[in-house]
Amino acid sequence: MKLLVTGGAGYIGSHTCVAAFAAGHEITVLDNLCNSSPEALERVERICGKKPRLVVGDIGDRACVRALLDAEKFDATIHFAGLKAVGESVEKPWEYYENNIAGTLVLLDELRRHGVFNFVFSSSATVYGNPDPANLPLREDAPLAALSPYGATKLWLEEMMRAMAKADPRWHFMLLRYFNPVGAHESGLIGEDPGGIPNNLMPYITQVAVGRLKELTIFGRDYPTPDGTCVRDYIHVCDLAEGHVAALAKVADLPGCTAINLGTGCGTSVAQLVASFEKATGRPLPHRYGERRPGDAAACWADATKARELLGWVAKRDCDAMCRDAWRYQSMNPDGYRRG
Ligand code: NAD
Ligand code: WQD
Repeated sequence: MKLLVTGGAGYIGSHTCVAAFAAGHEITVLDNLCNSSPEALERVERICGKKPRLVVGDIGDRACVRALLDAEKFDATIHFAGLKAVGESVEKPWEYYENNIAGTLVLLDELRRHGVFNFVFSSSATVYGNPDPANLPLREDAPLAALSPYGATKLWLEEMMRAMAKADPRWHFMLLRYFNPVGAHESGLIGEDPGGIPNNLMPYITQVAVGRLKELTIFGRDYPTPDGTCVRDYIHVCDLAEGHVAALAKVADLPGCTAINLGTGCGTSVAQLVASFEKATGRPLPHRYGERRPGDAAACWADATKARELLGWVAKRDCDAMCRDAWRYQSMNPDGYRRG
């Protein structure tokens, strides 16, 4: 297939480019590089022997999107482009609504005008809000809620896509709800490259391990979980990338709007992840226990049955592999793509 990959220079996008090349697809990336480096795509070339075409531009820039779609005929879009930091979205809601919602509406409008109706969307487990423990593991029909402007952008875009699919049978939307993506390509060449101090657990851990940060604070040890720390469904980014390839293989056969969880179906606690990481590096990771982080759910993990049944996809890599690969990338690139 000929693919338009928005946000393809980012963390999940670059790994998906590798998986999509391996499956024989052709790729054009549209990315404004607001949270990524073109170096990621140079690295994709080192892994795959070919490089996606990069168009530097914004999904909300109608003239840019139109010119791209006038010039190239695509079979499907994978839409990663978006801002993704929950805390920042509380500080800057307008920027999140503009970038994620207004931007996506321009993209969708130009796609329909150009007859490109196969659309794979980066949604998130954030649409389940703070899940009721009675609903774990989370199935796709669990109740939905937005607890932040970021979460609202995912939820509202999902709603818009459901309505658009209902009104126009030409649309084929796949809403892929990612749980907690971590890890890196096994080559160590591509991985997560957050600017500033990371908010998410795994990049924080790897930056402590590499000496950029002093110690990890584990937020809370009095949750109603087996070891008192929060439980999440960490998924290796390469499994996630392969989930997109599996979705592409089915998108043309699935009209309407289909929501699918991409997770492992297993919960792992923060303390367990830290232990796996220490095993991967063979060294203790400096850490201490602190207060709970406001808004954190005690536990959140996926029921991954629908992905297996509909896409024939299951996550294959375990927590040890996630930690090993995250550490290989961080130690080969101590300062991310800026050096290494
Ligand atoms: P990322 O920031 O590494 O990648 C996003 C990419 O989109 C970046 O390259 C950025 O430059 C680009 N971008 C942002 N706004 C743009 C715009 N208006 N026009 C063009 N390009 C733009 O993030 P990621 O972790 O790879 O996430 C990809 C997608 O997956 C996002 O939509 C995110 O919300 C979603 N998601 C991520 C996670 C996670 O934990 N990483 C979990 C669930 C869902
Ligand atoms: C994981 C666990 C923390 C940092 C977020 C978004 C979600 C999705 C994935 C985009 C929690 C604990 C963390 C630290 C810690 N993103 N932690 N010390 O909150 O599950 O999900 O990323 O869609 O929408 O909300 O991920 O990596 O921030 O935290 O103890 O320094 O690690 O309390 O239990 P989260 P996370």
